[in-house]
Parts: sequence; structure tokens; C-alpha cells
Amino acid sequence: MTNAATRTRLEWDSDKIRALFPTLQRRVAEYPLVYLDCAATSLRPESVITEGCNFCRHHDGNPHRGMHALSYEATEVYKSSRQAVADWLQAPDSSSVVITRNATAAINLVAGGLRGKLGSGDNIVLTHMEHHANLIPWQQLAKQSGAELRFVPLTEDGQLQTDMLPSLVDDRTRVVAVTHVSNVLGTINPIALFAKAARRVGAFSLVDSAQAVGHLPVSFAELDVDFMVFSAHKCYGPAGLGFLIGKKAALEQLSPAEYGGDMIEYVSYEEATWAEIPQRFEAGTANSQAVAAFPESIRFIESLGTAAIRAHEKEITAYALKRISAFEGMRILGPEDAHLRGGLVSFYDPYVPPHDMSTILDEHGVAVRAGHHCAQPLHRLLGIPASTRASFGVYSTTDDVDALIQGITEARKLFTRKY
Ligand code: ALA
Repeated sequence: MTNAATRTRLEWDSDKIRALFPTLQRRVAEYPLVYLDCAATSLRPESVITEGCNFCRHHDGNPHRGMHALSYEATEVYKSSRQAVADWLQAPDSSSVVITRNATAAINLVAGGLRGKLGSGDNIVLTHMEHHANLIPWQQLAKQSGAELRFVPLTEDGQLQTDMLPSLVDDRTRVVAVTHVSNVLGTINPIALFAKAARRVGAFSLVDSAQAVGHLPVSFAELDVDFMVFSAHKCYGPAGLGFLIGKKAALEQLSPAEYGGDMIEYVSYEEATWAEIPQRFEAGTANSQAVAAFPESIRFIESLGTAAIRAHEKEITAYALKRISAFEGMRILGPEDAHLRGGLVSFYDPYVPPHDMSTILDEHGVAVRAGHHCAQPLHRLLGIPASTRASFGVYSTTDDVDALIQGITEARKLFTRKY
């Protein structure tokens, strides 16, 4: 990859950026698509789609296995993809980058890798805003080990009560795991603080950066966590691919949680020994096409720059917060200030149930997500069954938000006979 400092940055030009995304050229019903579901999955630019197809057309081998040209080439593709991720997110080196199916699989890899290493009396510190992916693997580890689950509570406006960290994280804490950006509240969390609290007691720290990578500047080195996870499909990359980045010493302490081909060194009928890191954690063949395409996603993101992407998403979020909160009785989830949030706004309309809201918006070509967004306990804590979420990316514009507002207005008309 080109060094970030020497890379040529594109001027922010929404029309030009939008033209790079083939999906944005389609219509839904008779309306142009307004895609506001980037937090569920981002759309992919043509260059990323082409790169994945090129791998299938010209290479298509299985890496690390064959002695033929296609397999060698696939191995090189894996190496350079891993290196691109390491350079981009400032991982210690490419062997700290483990290729997984998605962020969920990466968290399972860590939680599964700690099986047998925790016991009764130990504890795992999470927060009240976690996605199921950063909750259930730890619940299972706690059940298996007898460890206690502890949760950092929320403030009234949906931030984490970090002043609780000193009392929650103690010398029996083995893991501190926290989301970087909440997929429901939008809150950007002070990850370095959590990492520091974990380090103080010798616990592992993990950050779920699924909603952060590609949306704000992220540096593994700066956050100084033991583990970071994210999914390619939420940052303009292909589905079926995620990454675990880990400090070497932390990765060394994990047992493999999946077994099979390509993760071994020596196998007899009775026993096996493990390959070096990262392959030890990569049993079976991965999604090679996606692995090949992802460096192109990084190039795309870096052609704009994560600081510029963050500034753009913040501007759209501020506009959306202003417009959505202007509806009488509308409840916005999470902090009111766009500076404290990533590029998404979840809301609860007392007049229009979220699933109806989403269906009516879809009839106007506007794609949002409705439901609990894989965060049931959080919604219960907030006292609502579900919410509607609009989430933004590089292609989002204030016109998109205006279309959303128009759709909400239509939904309210239907449900209240007002407006
Ligand atoms: N985690 C994704 C979301 O929040 C699927 O929508």
C-alpha cells in the first residue's frame, strides 16, 4: 500500500463518490434508492467488486496448499491482503492479522480461545451497549468457566459510565470487552481508557470496531488493546470476511477454537500440533475472493481519508439529529451531540412502530433497519421493544436525510391522520 502521507486524496465530491457505487444507480419501487443501512452492511464500490471478480477470473487457487501457479498466487494475495490491513490499522505486523468470517467469528475465536483459562471467582467486564456478538460469546465463556459477567452501565444520554471502571475492573478481571461505536446509540467510546483499565490488572482487552473501521481514523497501536475485531462488509468490502488483530503475546495465549485443515503443523491419528500464528486460527479455506478484494476497499477509503469520512458522516449525523428530533414526541437514542457519535441515528417514534416505519420508508425507496439491531438487552434497558435506525456512509447526503424525513412524515400521516 502507498504510504498514507503520499497518497493522493480525492476532493469530497458527493456526486463523484456516489457514481462509484453501482447499487446506488438502482431504483426501489419508483424511487431512486436511498440507502441508510450502512451500519448493517455498506455498499461496495465498483473497484472492490471488480477486484473480487478478477481473483475468480485469473487466480482462484486455494492458498497455502498447492505447488502450482494458482495456489502460489492465492498465497501471495493472502499475504498482501494481511499486510494491507496491518499497515492500514497499524498492527504490529502482518502475522498479528487473523483472517476470519466476520467480526462475530473473530470475537468467538478469542472467547473460545480462552476456554479453560478462566475459573470461578474470575470476571469478564462488558458494557450495557454491546451487540449480541460481543455479549453471547462471553456469556458462554462465563457459563463454561463459572466466571462472573459485569457490565459498565450507561449514562442518561447513552454514554458509558467510565467512572465505574475502577470498581468493576479488579484483580480477578480476565477480560474487558467493549464496542468502539455502539450500533444502536451511535456512541463513540473511549477505548484507550478501557484498555488501560484492563492492563492495570493484567486482563485482556478487546474492542469491537465493527462500526468504527472505515468510518473514523482507527489505529490498533494507539488504542493499545490486546484484540481488535471488525468485518469487511461494513467498510465497503465484501461479506464473509472479517479480521482479528491481536498483540503477539495475547494471541499466543489463545488456544485454537476451530480445528481442521491448514491450522496444523504435525498430525497423527491421535494427536496434532498447531501451525504458527496467524494460521493456527484459520482452519479451513477462507473466502479467497473477499480476501483478494479487501485491499481495494482500503484503497478506496484511503483515497478519501478517514478524517474526511468522519467529518462527512458527522455533518450528515448532525443534520439527521436536528431533523428527526424536530418531530413531536420523537425519541432519539444516544447522545444528542454529533461529536460524540458515529454515523448513525436510531429513533423511537411513539406513533409509528419501527417495523411499520421501515416498511413505509421502503415504499418510498428509503432503506433503514428496524428491530433490536442485535441488541435486545439494550432495548429492554431503554424500555422500548425496538427502534428504527438510519446509518450513513461516504455516499450519504443531506438529500438522503430529507427523503427519510419525507418518509417519516408520510408514516405519521398514515398512523395519526395528522401532518
Ligand atoms: N451488526 C449489524 C447491525 O447493527 C448487522 O445492523
